[in-house]
Amino acid sequence: MLIADSMKTQRPRLLVVDDDRAILTLTGTIALAEGFDVATTVSGEDAMRQLSQRPVDLVLLDLRMPGVTGLDVLRAIREVSPRCKVVLMTGYATIDSAVEAVKLGATDYLTKPFDLQRLRKLLMVVRTEADQRRTVLTLEGDLAQHLEFCGMVGRGPAMQEVFGLVRRLAPHVRTALITGETGTGKELVARALHTLGPRSNKRFLTVNCSAVVETLFESELFGHVRGAFTGATDHKAGLFETADAGTLFLDEVGELPLPVQAKLLRVLEEGEVQRVGSLEPRKIDVRLIAATNRDLREEVAAGRFRNDLYYRLNIVEVTLPPLRKRREDIPYLIAAFVRNFSQRFGKSLVGLTPGAERLLADAHWDGNVRQLRNVIERACILSEGEFVGEADLAGSMQEQRQVGSAPMPSPASYFRADGPAPLIEVERDHILRTLQQVRGNKAVAARLLGISRRAFYRQLERHGLHHRIPMSAHDELPDTADAAELERV
Ligand SMILES: Nc1ncnc2c1ncn2[C@@H]1O[C@H](COP(=O)(O)OP(=O)(O)OP(=O)(O)O)[C@@H](O)[C@H]1O
Ligand SMILES: [Mg+2]
Repeated sequence: MLIADSMKTQRPRLLVVDDDRAILTLTGTIALAEGFDVATTVSGEDAMRQLSQRPVDLVLLDLRMPGVTGLDVLRAIREVSPRCKVVLMTGYATIDSAVEAVKLGATDYLTKPFDLQRLRKLLMVVRTEADQRRTVLTLEGDLAQHLEFCGMVGRGPAMQEVFGLVRRLAPHVRTALITGETGTGKELVARALHTLGPRSNKRFLTVNCSAVVETLFESELFGHVRGAFTGATDHKAGLFETADAGTLFLDEVGELPLPVQAKLLRVLEEGEVQRVGSLEPRKIDVRLIAATNRDLREEVAAGRFRNDLYYRLNIVEVTLPPLRKRREDIPYLIAAFVRNFSQRFGKSLVGLTPGAERLLADAHWDGNVRQLRNVIERACILSEGEFVGEADLAGSMQEQRQVGSAPMPSPASYFRADGPAPLIEVERDHILRTLQQVRGNKAVAARLLGISRRAFYRQLERHGLHHRIPMSAHDELPDTADAAELERV
């Protein structure tokens, strides 16, 4: 509502570029009276700078200026902001190049001295179009929301195919494997398979295979009886039993230790579990969904993953393409995220400036949708106007390759004379750097690292950092990961 209202009241924007100040005053006065916000400049360079910072509906552009000419500016506008209207202003002498310019994408041209009636009419047309465009922008946000499939936005053919597959599989599937790079939405797909399936009113339990201590795996998954090992003071049901009749989501299944893989295979084949320390088999009826960002075929070839388990899991495989292979989804994801964060942070953001949008459209996105979401969240926090600009993205786009994902930065300090530093140190170092980068804000640090806040606190404890990092005021930012995390073990 906030967004729609602010857009209705928004005035269209005009930029006038001419080295003749009298023209700036004349056109500016008329445009103001016609309901425009007006910016003026005498230089082509400055015009290009302004255009990359703020979206403009119309540019009135002098063709002949010293330095960067009108044609140069026109070309730049066409690159950065294809929807912006450009009207050239020219004397009779240069009318040929005006025709040329129209060929290059200018909307129209005005000859000097101006026919003021014509100028007014032109402004009116642009104003009507700008109003319509803003309505479309709101609709695009609405559309992005309506395109949501169980919380996922994906308009391009690749994601539509995934949605179709999930819809077809959900009613029937017993085991499924979801693969894809980090941040591509594997967990969302796992939840969609559960939600759209016949067991949606039963439990969906997640176990993160990389977070469980190896020696506790068996007891976590299958349970134990009292006295089965030191510390087993009581009987305990494992996750398979707890999730009975529902869905068990084995996240990061590629991290499962080999001995546990063997036991998991047996459970899947026999449909029963034995608690650690007991010989009594218990029947279980669990839908098992596994996910990994590793290439399990490679893991099998390297002897780290059992071939038979791999074939058992991938009877049905859903593969999520990386974001860079479905760039057509980026504008819709941006629209959905901007709307979401704008509402959450009580702002009236409408969208991105053309420069910012282009920056995001071209980025590599190693951390995929999660990273895009993080970048937009941060920009929405920083942004003060109606549009997220390049400046709001600057910090996070520089860290593009660090945020979120697999290819870790490898500072020289990670490699010493006696070989690589131990993983635990690299991890600790990375956590510290991330905290420094966000000035100690743990909620934001956790998001950048792509883990929930609770998991992040566990990491701080593990590295003995929990006493060193003071709480910051922002730590209480709402954390969307929390709801999911409550269900985690
Ligand atoms: N298509 C999408 N539309 C909207 N949000 C998405 C989409 N895909 C992913 N996200 C968001 O991106 C973030 C990461 O998604 P998710 O946790 O499902 O990724 P993942 O593939 O499980 O990553 P990882 O391998 O790191 O665990 C979440 O905040 C999720 O809501
Ligand atoms: Mg995941």
